[in-house]
Amino acid sequence: MDDSGLWRTRPNAPLPGTLLGPLAEIPAGGAKEYRFGRGRSAFAMFVVRLAGGEARAYLNLCPHFSLPLNHAPDQFIRDGHILCMQHFALFRADTGACFAGAGEGRSLIPVPVSLSDDGLLAIGR
Ligand code: FES
Repeated sequence: MDDSGLWRTRPNAPLPGTLLGPLAEIPAGGAKEYRFGRGRSAFAMFVVRLAGGEARAYLNLCPHFSLPLNHAPDQFIRDGHILCMQHFALFRADTGACFAGAGEGRSLIPVPVSLSDDGLLAIGR
């Protein structure tokens, strides 16, 4: 199933082109959460900065129980993989595919991001 546009259907989804900030704010191999809106209807996503300098972004919504993945701010990565702290499913950082644990066979919902020449992340198309 092509879920490349699912992020747009979520409440408070930011418009393409919305600025997130400098990629440099995210440690290499780490992640950072961004939220739009407030409370339970907030649009929550996180960006992973891959070791090679590329960025990937996903909704902060585990495909296992539709819960946030993290318990602490910006804590999404363990040993180079995305870890859901609810039931410890592991996802590939570069694709969002679950390869171990409760969400196996499912994937995180991607959010397109772009990186400008001066290192600013924005919501892509
Ligand atoms: S909610 Fe993420 S593994 Fe269960």
